[in-house]
Amino acid sequence: MPFKFTEEFRARAEKICARYPRRDAALIPLLLEMQKEKGYIAEEGLDALALFLQIPYSRVKGVATFYTMFNHEPVGKYHLQVCRNISCHMAGSESLLGRLRGRLGIAEGETTRDGLFTLSAVECLGACGAAPVMQVNEKYFENLDEAKLDALLEELKHGRLPH
Ligand code: FES
Repeated sequence: MPFKFTEEFRARAEKICARYPRRDAALIPLLLEMQKEKGYIAEEGLDALALFLQIPYSRVKGVATFYTMFNHEPVGKYHLQVCRNISCHMAGSESLLGRLRGRLGIAEGETTRDGLFTLSAVECLGACGAAPVMQVNEKYFENLDEAKLDALLEELKHGRLPH
């Protein structure tokens, strides 16, 4: 079910706006807040947010599509986002991606049939010093290798997102 701008969400959004000198400065925090609700932001949500912030829809859409952290379709319980930018690439992110494709039986952009995992290859996550890096939902896993990746997958399959 797509995101709905409920009264409850509206009240929460007003509080977020109040933290900023200008209402439109809350655009990214509000997109993040919306994504927390359902794991993705549907088209209607972008429209509702533009109305709420009193800014053009094109600006909301532009920001929401520029950043890879925003999902526009439903994703699995765990969204595995492997950085494929230069530092991570040099440190072996391609082989990690290959391992994930093999172990999960899906390609980038797909979700496992049980709805547990979505796999994505993304641009720099801003943690290049700890390459290779994978983001799982909000959390970063750094200096990954195949053994760490396998151990992490096992935890996730049991519903545990390590701290
Ligand atoms: S290149 Fe991967 S985090 Fe920057």
